[in-house]
Amino acid sequence: CGIVGVVGKPAREVVLNGLKNLEYRGYDSAGIYLNDLQGHEYLTKAVGRIANLEEKMTPEEEGTTGIGHTRWATHGHPTVENAHPHYSEDGRFYLVHNGVIENYLELKEKYLEGVDFKSETDTEVIVQLVAKIAKDEKLPAFEAFKKTLKLVKGSYAFLLVDNTQPDHIYIAKNKSPMMLGLGDGFNIIASDAISVLDQTKTFIALNDGDCADVTKDAIEIQDYDGNKVEREAHVLDIDPNAASKGTYEFYMLKEIDEQPAVMRRLSTDYLDEAGEPVVDEKIVDAVSQADRIYIFAAGTSYHAGLVGQQVFEKFTGIPTEVGYASEAGYHFPMMSKHPFFIFLTQSGETADSRVVLTEANKRGIPSLTMTNVEGSTLSREASYTMLLNAGPEIAVASTKAYTAQVALQAILAKAVGEKLGDSAAKDWNLKQGLSLAAEGIQEIVDGKEKIEELAKKYLVPSRNAFYIGRGIDHAVALEGALKLKEVSYIQTEGFAAAELKHGTISLIEDGTPVIALINDPVTADLTRGNIQEVASRGANVITIVGKQFAKEGDTIVLPEIDYYLSALLSVVPTQLLAYYASKNKGLDVDKPRNLAKSVTVE
Ligand code: G6P
Repeated sequence: CGIVGVVGKPAREVVLNGLKNLEYRGYDSAGIYLNDLQGHEYLTKAVGRIANLEEKMTPEEEGTTGIGHTRWATHGHPTVENAHPHYSEDGRFYLVHNGVIENYLELKEKYLEGVDFKSETDTEVIVQLVAKIAKDEKLPAFEAFKKTLKLVKGSYAFLLVDNTQPDHIYIAKNKSPMMLGLGDGFNIIASDAISVLDQTKTFIALNDGDCADVTKDAIEIQDYDGNKVEREAHVLDIDPNAASKGTYEFYMLKEIDEQPAVMRRLSTDYLDEAGEPVVDEKIVDAVSQADRIYIFAAGTSYHAGLVGQQVFEKFTGIPTEVGYASEAGYHFPMMSKHPFFIFLTQSGETADSRVVLTEANKRGIPSLTMTNVEGSTLSREASYTMLLNAGPEIAVASTKAYTAQVALQAILAKAVGEKLGDSAAKDWNLKQGLSLAAEGIQEIVDGKEKIEELAKKYLVPSRNAFYIGRGIDHAVALEGALKLKEVSYIQTEGFAAAELKHGTISLIEDGTPVIALINDPVTADLTRGNIQEVASRGANVITIVGKQFAKEGDTIVLPEIDYYLSALLSVVPTQLLAYYASKNKGLDVDKPRNLAKSVTVE
């Protein structure tokens, strides 16, 4: 979910624009509360996009205090009743919330008997509880809020307005991201800084357990016991235009097209003229002292980790494991003596990954976050950070962050391998490799019409599809399948090529699309055999093949590149196939149903 609040200036446009920029966090439903400090207040909620909310609002709705929310449903269906802001029975308090309250049923039973609830949400319990404490104990809003916070278990970023003192917004944060933006004569609060960059570039990142009383020209940050807390403000150096769609119909294609530039930027930022890695010596030292590398991530970042695993093992000689963060958090893997953790996370906010990092910190395990978002939670809390420098990624389906993660892991592997005296790492010409990757990606995206034709012919009419490959191609098969299913709703599975025959081949019918990746010199011929197995059972086979392994009849031939960088090229046709399948089905490519880009709940 995404939240925005502003005090001290006309709030309607600011909140709505901020929410639009936060739609990547969810777009099931949205709502806004405005108060003009002259005794008028307005609450509007709508199912679906912010545009629907905007349509529902009447022209007079305006205020100089406003809070808004765009929702990714966790508790309760995406209905108007369940949309935020929620309000107390007495109509005094309004609250928006990102996160999940774990003990809301308990709180409801214990303190709120007889209260008339309007929604099924965990959030409403909190606003009702604030109202009850304020009323029963005759406490001012901020005091009642702090008292409530002490009872709450779970993750949250809260914005609370009391309509008897509407020039204040009370805020609190635990585990869910929240940035406090400082303006001239106004202040603004949002789930991320980039959503309100048109308003200010100066931000305070709150810590877990912080709460604050925010007015147009003052901010008082405290802990829940009322002790004053100091937090520093930082000026963010981000170009707000980097997040614009330009002439593109969808961000996803823009972001696919940006990948050559991302490869060049990483090469400039992390390799010197001679091609030697420029990586913080402390990071290189810490990783090279490890006896085992553990990579944790979710979704597409997890798939980038599967490529990284092979690269780290090859060039550093350090055994490397990759795990779903969501699994490791509660079934912590058995550790070697000197583990090093790498978190791959585009957003730096994924709650599942943060659980593992918190545990690692408790155990004193050194860690590195590779992320696209400077100052994000996982970057702040890990021992070290390396930035992907891919520029804002807006489409829900991740593309350029994936290729950036693959490339950055390669750079780190080379740096660590060289430090450990690994000759393969020394000989690895990564500068040339990344330059070939940039040129190769360009060549692939320049030929996108052909890929669109393939998507229209084979994928759009299909209900299901398969990706197969071995080695790094297997990792890319998993990512290609995820991309296709998330944006086109075609059920797609990625398989280790040889595994198909051990069961899943029973699903192959006449016309089933099977997309085969062949970029691994060791197994290229074996995968050809697996292609024959599915072709002879009627599959429509599309091949994505490195030039050096290409044969007559191959569908997409990729420029030649080192096997350990092959994912940088082979993933691009899979991204384009997904994009065009979705677009030609008439879907909203950038905002697939049920998804959110940054998932800050477990
Ligand atoms: C969400 C997104 C995925 C993404 C995953 C991990 O589920 O929809 O596209 O891969 O989170 O996100 P992260 O920001 O940690 O890379």
